[in-house]
Amino acid sequence: SQFNIAVVVGSLRKDSFNRKMAAAIVKLGPPHFVFTQAEIGDLPLYNQDDDGQPGEQVQRLKAHIAGAQGLLFVTPEYNRSISGVLKNAIDHASRPYGQSVWAGKPAGVLGVSVGAAGTALAQQHLRNILGYLDVPTLGQPEAFIQVKDGLFDDAGGIGPASLGFLQAWMRQYVSWVEKHAAPL
Ligand code: FNR
Repeated sequence: SQFNIAVVVGSLRKDSFNRKMAAAIVKLGPPHFVFTQAEIGDLPLYNQDDDGQPGEQVQRLKAHIAGAQGLLFVTPEYNRSISGVLKNAIDHASRPYGQSVWAGKPAGVLGVSVGAAGTALAQQHLRNILGYLDVPTLGQPEAFIQVKDGLFDDAGGIGPASLGFLQAWMRQYVSWVEKHAAPL
């Protein structure tokens, strides 16, 4: 059967390395995994006063996540945490209280940064959030990716230096989702 995966990218930058990584990693997925990027760039800032009448963009995000069997987060590290835009999206889809759409959806976490620590601290913060939201998150292998020449090939795929590692990551991710996904 098919698995719909919602991809959430934590950078809005046009030339984002994390967006490129999201586009490249999904090429390594099997045919029965269908990855679709969630739009989070047009969400308003979360305001609990709006819980009773969520905007169209918020409803769209929640419907997208609700329709997915699995999640893939690809996040930059901003000041040793996740970006505000990613946290904003997570908060939106977690509310109103009792109507979170995240719970129970198996997830993987990836991140690319220009720094040597490769988003390790951002990912640790994200795991903390996902734990609270009851999102079972793949623990191993961890993937802390630093931007280097050749990270991506000319066709927008993963370059040769990281290909084997990320193929192995994808195999583990696929079996994690297959094991934990609830039927829709
Ligand atoms: C950064 N960057 C960064 N890098 C890092 O490794 N650790 C960090 O804590 C931070 N902090 C940080 C804060 C802010 C506000 C910005 C804009 C950037 C650098 C970051 O890795 C780099 O800008 C990446 O290119 C961001 O990812 P995208 O946009 O390319 O996906």
